[in-house]
Amino acid sequence: MPEFEHVLWDAVDGVCTITINRPDRLNALDTSVIEELGGAFEEAFVSDEVGVLVLTGAGSKAFVAGADIGMLAEQGVLEGKENSLLGQDLLELIEDGFKPVIAAVNGFALGGGLELALACDFRYASSSASFGLPEVGLGIIPGYGGTQRLPRTVGIGYALEMILSGKRIDAAEALRVGLVNRVTEPDELLDEARATAQAILEKGPLAVRFAKEAVRRGLGMSLKDGLELEADLFGMISSTKDMKEGMQAFLEKRKPDFVGE
Ligand code: COA
Repeated sequence: MPEFEHVLWDAVDGVCTITINRPDRLNALDTSVIEELGGAFEEAFVSDEVGVLVLTGAGSKAFVAGADIGMLAEQGVLEGKENSLLGQDLLELIEDGFKPVIAAVNGFALGGGLELALACDFRYASSSASFGLPEVGLGIIPGYGGTQRLPRTVGIGYALEMILSGKRIDAAEALRVGLVNRVTEPDELLDEARATAQAILEKGPLAVRFAKEAVRRGLGMSLKDGLELEADLFGMISSTKDMKEGMQAFLEKRKPDFVGE
């Protein structure tokens, strides 16, 4: 089990919970937290103990209150671009990882915190969560993908309203606009996320992997190319033991026993 200073890792029954643990700074992301998160995700993506990941923040107040403003205050042009790319690389790692990642947003998800949640495959929120991209109020713009992923998630008009005004929205509004899939009581958030993770774990692991890949890669393509990608992956999945097992189990009216081959 890997150990980090500001990131906790906990793998139980195939579900790895990664917790950003810097509560005195509301889990703000500085360079070392971003690097540690990268290390934790890399470990989890290759670990045989892990099938699905849940990402959350320590404490009841914040998921992540943004990039560390102390760090950003120091930056010039070159460091600004480096800081942006460092965060973007982490978020791409999460998005491209072949195992599903669920964000369990337990409080403030501001700036880089919202951007981090947007790179996860889907989001559950505690009723106490709030969301916003306050960067323009600091004289900067979102730099960890917020200008790109928020419009793709909630639509261009709503995203631009959030980005240009810096307004903060609560969990109910986030649910209404499709930013999160579910809102729970604060103390039920992790159980709900883990229950969905367990439901995914019961499915064919290669099928889950290919399905995520089809959606993720397909979104960057024309519809025609995306459909071709889907057909290619559909062909590949048809050569697996898991496909035969899934079909056979249905016909024999029993639960499938998938092996990931
Ligand atoms: N970077 C660095 N430190 C941060 C931080 C951030 N993004 N967000 C919060 N903190 C620190 C605060 O400076 C404070 O430190 P202190 O105890 O040494 O004063 C501590 O975390 C607690 O935050 P505080 O502001 O006292 O809590 P609050 O409940 O009054 O307000 C927020 C909570 C989230 C509304 C407020 O902290 C905030 O606006 N944070 C910045 C959000 C932001 O703009 N993020 C985008 C950055 S690009």
